[in-house]
Amino acid sequence: MKYQRIKGTQDILPEAEPYWAHVTSTVQALARRFGFEQISTPMFENTALFARGVGEDTDIVSKEMYTWLDRGKDGEQGESLTLRPEFTAGVMRAYIENGFASRPQPQKLYSVGPIFRREKPQKGRYRQFHQFNAEIIGSDDPVADFEILLLTHTLYRELGFKNLVFQINSTGDPECKPRYVAALKQYLLPYADKLAPTDRDRLERNPLRVLDSKERETLPYLSGAPHIVDYLNDDCKKHFDEVLSYLSAVDIPYQINHRLVRGLDYYTKTVFELWGEGLGAQAALCGGGRYDGLIELLGGAPTPGVGFATGIERIIMSMQDQGIEPPALARPQVFVAYLNEAAKLVAVKLVTDLRNAGVGARIAFGGRSLKAQMKDADRTGCRFALIIGEDELKTNSVILRDLGKSEQASVPMADLQTWVTNLIDVRTTPPQEEQPESAAEEAK
Ligand code: HAM
Repeated sequence: MKYQRIKGTQDILPEAEPYWAHVTSTVQALARRFGFEQISTPMFENTALFARGVGEDTDIVSKEMYTWLDRGKDGEQGESLTLRPEFTAGVMRAYIENGFASRPQPQKLYSVGPIFRREKPQKGRYRQFHQFNAEIIGSDDPVADFEILLLTHTLYRELGFKNLVFQINSTGDPECKPRYVAALKQYLLPYADKLAPTDRDRLERNPLRVLDSKERETLPYLSGAPHIVDYLNDDCKKHFDEVLSYLSAVDIPYQINHRLVRGLDYYTKTVFELWGEGLGAQAALCGGGRYDGLIELLGGAPTPGVGFATGIERIIMSMQDQGIEPPALARPQVFVAYLNEAAKLVAVKLVTDLRNAGVGARIAFGGRSLKAQMKDADRTGCRFALIIGEDELKTNSVILRDLGKSEQASVPMADLQTWVTNLIDVRTTPPQEEQPESAAEEAK
């Protein structure tokens, strides 16, 4: 049996580490700069949470969830569980369950982690992928929508993306949305026979989703469809206009996209996406919007909210397509080599001291010849080797060899730290702060 990774999953190899490190540290730093705090919810939840939260008729719930029956007590069948196909429903469950409503509102929460959807694998579309997700819960102020849009825009801008234009729309609220859905249905019904079969089905069950159909047969009939913005009630219209006016105030470009409704059922009012270059047909870099009815739907008190999520793999793919390079990662620059067992013991202490001082260092493995150890030093890309041989053991010193210049010098062990830190910028982590003398005295 040859084991292979499951279709639609990927091994993230060390080559990709600079991208992952850069993107994840950027999203975390930015989330904190905007005043968000991190929440980590479990990777699986009760199936009913997603069915109710995301919507039974959505593609995610009807086709894409990894669901199984858990083992119950005494061999009985347990409950139905599902790997999270998105963060939002789980974060709302945690908000309700942990009594977040009694904390100062709004709560600004972000999460990073794996998400699972059984989609057809293709470029930028995986069955396990990672999201950065941010939610502002407990405010119906359009400035909260703006905060989410600004966070999104700042993230991509700081990662090096250019020409970002939001696709934005409003999906109304439970008062005005049904009026629009009725008008849309009335408009589409005469063409029902001509629509793609999936859209004919949607027209019956969830007509709004016909609007963002990508089916060739359906597309010609969508250009004349009524626009939801023309059906918004005063409150929704005012909300939408305010969000747009904030975007204009800080020169963030947007396009009103009358066909944007998003594929999850919880949205009310604002919805938006950003599309990345090179991601293929309308694959979104991110998506989000407002969900004022969701917490109540999940059993909490009526509480408004707005948020977004972005796929980390899609960000990295777009960076690669556009030639955006992440900063190089610090790697150890010092390689410790030794002649024999006695020298190895000194080498072990030396590499420990260097690392404790914040200097990135490697030690040779495998009891091989000094020549073989030097080859390893070159292969690992270290700039300096510290070599302990017979003479060095006797004189309590070490050979410091510059591998690039093939020059070397003998350095007393006692002076080594100063030599190493003066010679090169070898620190991969900041050293422990030294205690001021008076504090050290007091500690005694
Ligand atoms: P979503 O649009 O379903 O929204 O997903 C957000 C992002 O996740 C997408 O824009 C894309 O970057 C990434 N993504 C989705 N599916 C895949 C996939 N199969 N492979 C790789 N990346 C993918 C949500 O999940 C909402 N919960 C967002 C939200 C938060 N709305 C309000 N708050």
